[in-house]
Amino acid sequence: MGLIKIVILILSFTFLCQGQRLTATYSAARLPYAMDRTAAYYDGVDSIYLFGGRANSYEVRSISVYSISQDTIKMVGSISSTYLFESCVESATNGNLYYFGNVASSYSVTNNAMFDISRNTTEAIAALPFYPADCGALKLNHTSNIVYIFKDSPLRTFDLETMVLTEVATLTHYPTISTKIGNSAIFFSGVSGPALARVTKLNLDTMEMETRNTGLHTLSYARVASDLVRYVYIIGGYVPAADRPTQTIIQWDTQLHQHVYIPVDNYPFSYSEESWQYSPASVYVEKLNRIYYFGGRYRQRVGGGTMPLSAIWHVNLSDIDPPASTTIPTEYPSTTEEEPETEITTESAITTSTTVITTTTTPNPEIITCQNKTDGMYPHPYDCAMFIGCHNGELEIFTCPVPLLFDPVASTCMPPHLVDCNISCVGKPDGVYPHGQDCSLFITCVSEILEVYRCPPPLLFDPILLVCNYPEFVDCV
Ligand SMILES: *[C@@H]1O[C@H](CO)[C@@H](O)[C@H](O)[C@H]1NC(C)=O
Ligand SMILES: *[C@@H]1O[C@H](CO)[C@@H](O)[C@H](O)[C@H]1NC(C)=O
Ligand SMILES: *[C@@H]1O[C@H](CO)[C@@H](O)[C@H](O)[C@H]1NC(C)=O
Ligand SMILES: *[C@@H]1O[C@H](CO)[C@@H](O)[C@H](O)[C@H]1NC(C)=O
Ligand SMILES: *[C@@H]1O[C@H](CO)[C@@H](O)[C@H](O)[C@H]1NC(C)=O
Repeated sequence: MGLIKIVILILSFTFLCQGQRLTATYSAARLPYAMDRTAAYYDGVDSIYLFGGRANSYEVRSISVYSISQDTIKMVGSISSTYLFESCVESATNGNLYYFGNVASSYSVTNNAMFDISRNTTEAIAALPFYPADCGALKLNHTSNIVYIFKDSPLRTFDLETMVLTEVATLTHYPTISTKIGNSAIFFSGVSGPALARVTKLNLDTMEMETRNTGLHTLSYARVASDLVRYVYIIGGYVPAADRPTQTIIQWDTQLHQHVYIPVDNYPFSYSEESWQYSPASVYVEKLNRIYYFGGRYRQRVGGGTMPLSAIWHVNLSDIDPPASTTIPTEYPSTTEEEPETEITTESAITTSTTVITTTTTPNPEIITCQNKTDGMYPHPYDCAMFIGCHNGELEIFTCPVPLLFDPVASTCMPPHLVDCNISCVGKPDGVYPHGQDCSLFITCVSEILEVYRCPPPLLFDPILLVCNYPEFVDCV
């Protein structure tokens, strides 16, 4: 890899860290009602269908279609019952839409409905033995009639030709929001206790499953859309806090397994303490690289009430996306492939492999390695109180006695005032910083979230130019 290329990559990375910002652009059209929990379906061309929803004191029974090119919305049908809560919609190969939700007049009866687009009619077609509120519906491809319904465990498929429901896998973590990247479903789920969200990647071809911690708090009534290739965009689902800024969209990177809160200008509500109670339906429109958002309900800071919205708005992901040709992680940093501990578990009728990542702070653990290192003590990339021992390529992690910190020059634990340690993003603007303890490493800070990367060997981080550079140009002690 040439120096120029590396410099360009790092400069573009620096730019991204500092320039990550989206803007909400509002449509002239508005939803027929201020409402939340509407189920959205994009036909891949120009139409986004919106099924049901919940207005302030009544359920919305209409089916509306939003035209992206014309920026208009019109009602095209209705579902002939009440109690329409957020559910999910998928299409059959004949173009009809199937709504998985409660279409009967009681909470206890669950049904699903078919909307015949050509005839503008709706009929209830089958009862489901579960309540699919807040489900996600996904198909492997457009030529398939098999719909995966992400709701709880077991994971089920519904065949739109035969109307047969099949249990296909046992899920350890129940999906709360789901989307698709390539041939895989990506779903997020909460855990009890100190609630952290987990993310599972389920390959719909092979049914292989991989679950890991996200480092995000449990996402309640969040909504999600993916760019179909790499990034998942989550809106809402969290109560604002110092490390969880509101008026943001969370970008989850399915390759590096890390998240960033991206600030959004012109957000639908203004007070920073306000948050979504039910996030707006999210739809990714590939040809424009936009995510469209419909309605939702936010919790007001003053008085604690909630407010449904009728707004239709979008963000342009080109404002933040790196062009595909300079996608950072595939080229840079070169050490981000994970080799997680894998435990194989047999679930349901199929065999799946479940991967549990226990550490959430080191998405690129390869930087903690004894590879290419002579025997000795080395600084720990993330923590000055820890250090790494390498012996015959074998790695062992040690912790200095409190309050001592590891001094890489003396190669031993020393009192803190004698150690130059600044592996932290607290109070630092977004950007790239020297690691301080190890010249081959550098730090990135995004919204005060720290990440550590290693320069591609033999390069070292140049603390003046803030790029990886040839060792002879870098003043490193
Ligand atoms: C579809 O039917 C609804 C009533 O259910 C009506 O309001 C709407 O205009 C119809 N749309 C079309 C395209 O015929
Ligand atoms: C589409 O998905 C079905 C399973 O639902 C699969 O059998 C078929 O091979 C897939 N087709 C393509 C072109 O990937
Ligand atoms: C999205 O933003 C990019 C620049 O950030 C601009 O070139 C492009 O035209 C925008 N796309 C749309 C569909 O507005
Ligand atoms: C070790 O050295 C080899 C050859 O120079 C290189 O390809 C590899 O990336 C290095 N590994 C690490 C972890 O630095
Ligand atoms: C850490 O670095 C930042 C900016 O580079 C600086 O402002 C801060 O004083 C440093 N802290 C320590 C403890 O050295």
